[in-house]
Amino acid sequence: MAERVLIVEDEPDLRYVLTRQLRGDGYELDTAVDGEDAIQKIQQNEYAVIITDMNMPRKDGLSVISAAREFLPEAEVIVLTGHGSLENALQAFKAGNIFEYLLKPLDDIGLLNTLVARAIERRNLKRHNRQLFEQLQQAYEELKQKSEMLVQNEKMSAIGTLAAGVAHELNNPLTAVVGFAQILQEKLKSKRPLNWSDEEYQRVLTAVENLVQGAHRSRDIVGSLLRYARVSRADVRSLVDIHQVLRDAFVFTEHMLLRHGIALQKQFAPDLPQVWANPSRLQHVFTNLLLNAQQATPSGGTVTVRTERSEEPKGVWVHIEDTGCGIPEEDLPHIFEPFFTRREDGTGLGLSIVRQIVEEHQGEIRVWSEVGKGTRFSIFLPATEVYQLTPPETPSIEAQSA
Ligand SMILES: Nc1ncnc2c1ncn2[C@@H]1O[C@H](COP(=O)(O)OP(=O)(O)O)[C@@H](O)[C@H]1O
Ligand SMILES: [Mg+2]
Repeated sequence: MAERVLIVEDEPDLRYVLTRQLRGDGYELDTAVDGEDAIQKIQQNEYAVIITDMNMPRKDGLSVISAAREFLPEAEVIVLTGHGSLENALQAFKAGNIFEYLLKPLDDIGLLNTLVARAIERRNLKRHNRQLFEQLQQAYEELKQKSEMLVQNEKMSAIGTLAAGVAHELNNPLTAVVGFAQILQEKLKSKRPLNWSDEEYQRVLTAVENLVQGAHRSRDIVGSLLRYARVSRADVRSLVDIHQVLRDAFVFTEHMLLRHGIALQKQFAPDLPQVWANPSRLQHVFTNLLLNAQQATPSGGTVTVRTERSEEPKGVWVHIEDTGCGIPEEDLPHIFEPFFTRREDGTGLGLSIVRQIVEEHQGEIRVWSEVGKGTRFSIFLPATEVYQLTPPETPSIEAQSA
């Protein structure tokens, strides 16, 4: 594309001479008859070089130079003036990007061709520099982001390993605590020790009840920590009907929802493709999301589970939507982090496990939420491509009939 050059000169003869002089150099030439005209053109066109007179009717050369600096910061300006003085020159250089300051009349008009060519070179160099600088800055930003992410990942995995180790150690003694606490409770309930007063007996019963609950809760936390550590391992997969997985998840959760006065709506899409997945892990995903939905939704609310077929890319969407409290915007970036919780008795592990499992399945998880309205988690799982399937073991019909 030809570079554009603007010639600003109120004297028609000189305008003609300048234009004719540059005509053979392959530029796209434009002329302006005064400052006002020039400023309008500068605002609308991408000039590489502007050659301008200083004394002109309407706006003068200084205004043209300032406009060029404002609208075309990389353009070079060549001043051509009949009123050269040190003061005028200083003013011009202060106002903008002056490549050359020339006095009329020009002794050698051929000089103009060289000057314009050099001005364009300098302008392109500046442009190139700026692009390089922008690229550098972008690369730097990306690098910074990546390194922050790496540090974060490192921290998370260190915490995860530590937590899994602790959980593993706690698992056996906790099982004993849960078991013995239950035995203790049953024994006490069945018979009051003779030397205890009624009041004493009730107090101990309440204490033991708390003990049992605490023990159960500790075991749940340890269990979810262990699952968190475990889900990072690769596992066996099969062709899975998502609706079956959802029905399995409802076995545990539907009753819980109803008990809390929350309605469960199921909207299952017909002819959903199968996915290549680990059904028990997917069940874990849906159970977790349903549990979170229950915890966020007051009595009288609704939880809706909707499945949807996706063509591009091929797969399945599962939406789990509640009419609960919603998630504040500032929490949204953190809800998938391990140990992030807003619930008093939360572990903050649920969603981090959910995300881990979805990613393991090359899926995607999205969240929409509005405080006071509700929350929707949407999970995409890719449909199985034919090449992912192992060939069938059974002989073909042809072979059977032979
Ligand atoms: N359906 C939901 N509605 C509102 N808030 C939610 C919902 N699901 C998750 N959250 C928020 O995300 C946090 C993290 O959830 P999660 O990882 O399951 O841990 P936990 O349930 O132990 O707090 C919750 O404490 C809650 O603040
Ligand atoms: Mg949870």
